[in-house]
Amino acid sequence: MLDTREKQGLRCGYPLLSVENVKLGYRVNGHTNVAVGNAGFQVWPGEKVMLLGPSGCGKSTLLKAVAGFLEPEDGVISFAGRQDLRPGPDRAVVFQEFDQLFPWRTVLENVAYPLRATGRSRDEASEKARRFVELTGLSHAVDRYPHQLSGGMKQRVAIARALALEPRMLLMDEPFGSLDAQTRARLQKELNEVTRRTEVTVLFVTHSIQEALVLGDRVVVLGHAPSEVREVLEVTGAAGDLDSKRFAWTRRQLCNLLAEDGEEVDDAVFE
Ligand SMILES: Nc1ncnc2c1ncn2[C@@H]1O[C@H](COP(=O)(O)OP(=O)(O)OP(=O)(O)O)[C@@H](O)[C@H]1O
Ligand SMILES: [Mg+2]
Repeated sequence: MLDTREKQGLRCGYPLLSVENVKLGYRVNGHTNVAVGNAGFQVWPGEKVMLLGPSGCGKSTLLKAVAGFLEPEDGVISFAGRQDLRPGPDRAVVFQEFDQLFPWRTVLENVAYPLRATGRSRDEASEKARRFVELTGLSHAVDRYPHQLSGGMKQRVAIARALALEPRMLLMDEPFGSLDAQTRARLQKELNEVTRRTEVTVLFVTHSIQEALVLGDRVVVLGHAPSEVREVLEVTGAAGDLDSKRFAWTRRQLCNLLAEDGEEVDDAVFE
């Protein structure tokens, strides 16, 4: 696990993702409803950056724009030096919903499908899919169909499928939001392990302070819609050591920021 100084050392050279003065909205009945008023932050290769903020503040909207599903009304998003952000396998997305798998395909076929769709041969796709299914602890379930899996297993398959594409950035939109607290904690731990082994860069949406602290190197805190970036905080404690003084300081900062925005911040947030 990298310590804070090493993580800061990652932030030299060029960022992988740069979001500058970005405004995002949706056209509804001829008007643009602005969701994100002005967002700016960077993500360097190998970092795990968390987007944290109240419900409806535009976290998913920002993620969709980075994925290339939505164009900014204003400002610039550049990824690996490019600004024409069409959706592509260099930014794989994992969503919150359990139904993001093809119900008629097995675990292995679900993971192999995007590999085939992006030009890998049948054998190569199958071999790679097997490797990533193993990495996410699902070797025993390769031949099962989604209806034969628990919620946590389905999310592991979705993560394996995204990682198998070997994306430059993994975009995750509350992937553990629908899981019970115990399963969520286990998957958070597993994700830390998998991202350490694959060294993939992660942009992760959450509304949980606990999750931001357990998974993130830095936390981008958004205010209410039309949102702006309130603060970008470094997570300074050692991963997993939620009781350390340094973690407590970051946690207090995050609580204060959310409370200033009228969010109810209590123990429930920490789950
Ligand atoms: N497809 C859409 N069309 C119109 N408005 C939308 C659309 N998707 C989202 N919005 C609006 O944009 C705003 C931001 O939504 P978004 O889903 O990004 O919030 P969020 O921070 O991800 O919230 P949550 O934590 O509840 O998931 C909200 O006001 C929402 O109603
Ligand atoms: Mg959302």
